Amino acid sequence: MALVMIFHMLFSIALAVTVSIMSPSPLSLAKSDNLGFSVDLIHRDSPVSPYNHSLTPFECIGIALRRSSNRVNYFKLASLSAQAVSTEVIARDGQYLMKMAIGSTKFSFLAIADTGSDLTWIRCSPSTWCYKRKAPLFNPKRSLSYEVIPCNSKKCKSVPGSFCSRNGTCSYLVMYGDKSFSHGIVGTETVLLDSSARKPASLPGIIFGCGYHNRGTFSESASGIVGLGGGEVSLVSQMGSSIGGKFSYCLVPLLSQNTYSSRMHFGAKAKVVGKQVTTTPIIPTSMKTFYFLGLEGFSVAGRRLEIYDSSSSSPTDTFGAFKKLPIIIDSGTTLTYLPSNAFTKLELAVREAVKSRPIGDPQNRLKLCYRYNKTLALPIIVAHFTGANLTLNPMNTFLPTGPGVLCLAFLPDDNVAIFGSVAQMNFLVGYDLAKKTVSFKPTDCTKK
Ligand SMILES: *[C@@H]1O[C@H](CO)[C@@H](O)[C@H](O)[C@H]1NC(C)=O
Ligand SMILES: *[C@@H]1O[C@H](CO)[C@@H](O)[C@H](O)[C@H]1NC(C)=O
Ligand SMILES: *[C@@H]1O[C@H](CO)[C@@H](O)[C@H](O)[C@H]1NC(C)=O
Ligand SMILES: *[C@@H]1O[C@H](CO)[C@@H](O)[C@H](O)[C@H]1NC(C)=O
Repeated sequence: MALVMIFHMLFSIALAVTVSIMSPSPLSLAKSDNLGFSVDLIHRDSPVSPYNHSLTPFECIGIALRRSSNRVNYFKLASLSAQAVSTEVIARDGQYLMKMAIGSTKFSFLAIADTGSDLTWIRCSPSTWCYKRKAPLFNPKRSLSYEVIPCNSKKCKSVPGSFCSRNGTCSYLVMYGDKSFSHGIVGTETVLLDSSARKPASLPGIIFGCGYHNRGTFSESASGIVGLGGGEVSLVSQMGSSIGGKFSYCLVPLLSQNTYSSRMHFGAKAKVVGKQVTTTPIIPTSMKTFYFLGLEGFSVAGRRLEIYDSSSSSPTDTFGAFKKLPIIIDSGTTLTYLPSNAFTKLELAVREAVKSRPIGDPQNRLKLCYRYNKTLALPIIVAHFTGANLTLNPMNTFLPTGPGVLCLAFLPDDNVAIFGSVAQMNFLVGYDLAKKTVSFKPTDCTKK
């Protein structure tokens, strides 16, 4: 098969809009651009999420840890090749869901939103080889705003993994490891995102994939992926000037008791302002999809550790000149991954700061665990990004993996560094793609 294959990242942030989109006359974004708009983010383990609710909290953490390592494999492969080529990637469910609507029929669906991939795709009918599903399918033939695009067009060529089908329509194929894939037609549609305002924001002419052949381990209830990466065809890039390149999210803590959704903002509302805001630049690389930040080091209980010794140049310093680690900020990866030399330094400093004796991880995945009791004092860890010091509380750096057990939520990985979702919980995280910055503000994400 002469198909161009690409791996994409499934599952990053998935955001969920809880408000349904019912307004008969969507407000054009052009009219609302100064205000921006907001949607709700739903954690996949929330009671309002369609995912399996009969899991115990520790089963949920176990699944999140498995997803985390699958996700790292995806990044690893992606970082090894800036060009899109066929490869093995394991796809698993995302963690946050976004509800959106599409077309003149205002077809409403839940999708996994993903900061680590670009193309938005939705399962379409008639569908073949379909995996088990509960959600209805989008039928583009019923939508007046749906258009296919020719495969020799610029729009088609902007889609990674696109190719010409025999009849000249623009097709795409997204492959995931474990033999999951989505294959279909690239078209344009009106996308409706609900907002706190009464009328949804209407985004006409958005390039998206209509998936006719989909198979694999995508969630049974989510109907597709929303691409929020930095590449040309991602939803946020296509929204472009209408949102001023700005979006923000606030990730509610894993296993939080009552509140399971938080706000996702686009446009002016996504501005992160206030006294406690810290801002760091996005490092430009050839991998436009991924948002790289520069990490200089950590402080553990007030003691500063540099990632790179000034004396030696690290083999993992793939970007040469900087004395900082390029690290992908990603809400779809649970843990934070560091090169083993940096991980070892951090782990040692935590061991020295914690007065208790370490125990083994009941889930056998994490490296440094403690039995939790009231006398256990865990250190504050500060992540030093270029120009931004991020104070991480123990809930950002330790995960409960079993009854009364807390483990350091970092792991070593020499191929790719990722700043994951646990470290970002209870921060308002704002992306400004025009200024090329990411800002953080400590926030109780359970309070809207
Ligand atoms: C939900 O999870 C439970 C426990 O793991 C399992 O037995 C059950 O089959 C799952 N249900 C669905 C619909 O996946
Ligand atoms: C073009 O081919 C694709 C499959 O390759 C098919 O799904 C689509 O309906 C065809 N379009 C037209 C206009 O024939
Ligand atoms: C808490 O755990 C530490 C060891 O991890 C132990 O020395 C201490 O006695 C425990 N305290 C209580 C109140 O159980
Ligand atoms: C971050 O912390 C370091 C101390 O480790 C300090 O020297 C630096 O000025 C701080 N940077 C900012 C932007 O606050």
